Amino acid sequence: MELLTPRLTLREFRETDFASFRELEAHPATYHYESACPDETATRKYLENALADARQTPRTRYRFAVTIRPAEEVRGRVTLALLNDSIREWEIGWAIHPDEWGKGFAVEAAQRLLEFAFTDLGAHRVVAFSHAQNTASLRVMQELGMQQDGLLRETRSWRGAWSDEVVFSILEREWR
Ligand SMILES: CC(C)(COP(=O)(O)OP(=O)(O)OC[C@H]1O[C@@H](n2cnc3c(N)ncnc32)[C@H](O)[C@@H]1OP(=O)(O)O)[C@@H](O)C(=O)NCCC(=O)NCCS
Repeated sequence: MELLTPRLTLREFRETDFASFRELEAHPATYHYESACPDETATRKYLENALADARQTPRTRYRFAVTIRPAEEVRGRVTLALLNDSIREWEIGWAIHPDEWGKGFAVEAAQRLLEFAFTDLGAHRVVAFSHAQNTASLRVMQELGMQQDGLLRETRSWRGAWSDEVVFSILEREWR
């Protein structure tokens, strides 16, 4: 399946995506707020898992490649995963290739994914977790109309110290 935005296509990953996806995953800036960059094996595993997710029924995880039309190569990824079925809660995530930052692509892709979550998947809540100092990601959450649920103290080991994490959410009625 695929979802369209004015400039982007969010589509299932393909086996042939490895080279362009690896460019995103191997870029140090993409993983600045994570403990480490994934190695090649981890990137291959991610692709394999993404292909497996697409075959799931019922589907509880969507990992979409973000492409900038008319190009076909991967310039980002967005994810939606069922976190708590009993309250229809899904988790959203995003990464855009650093060469494309600041063009509004993350917000554009995530807005489409929220629409998909609330209208097609019947989500009640969508949540996002972020390193507390990841200002770009915080801005994306705010732009989407998400609100901070809380601060998880020292849940991340980062650059030899503990870091806090924030949890943001948006409810179906807020989205509508
Ligand atoms: C977070 C990320 C996806 C944002 O992508 P993007 O396409 O540049 O975001 P957008 O262009 O849609 O910008 C959204 C907002 O963030 C702001 N922003 C973007 N980069 C920023 C930065 N480095 N510092 C502060 N604000 C920033 C933009 O100005 C915009 O705010 P505005 O509408 O008030 O101007 C991107 O920085 C990224 O891929 N980071 C690495 C992966 C990552 O951290 N993922 C999130 C894990 S929780």
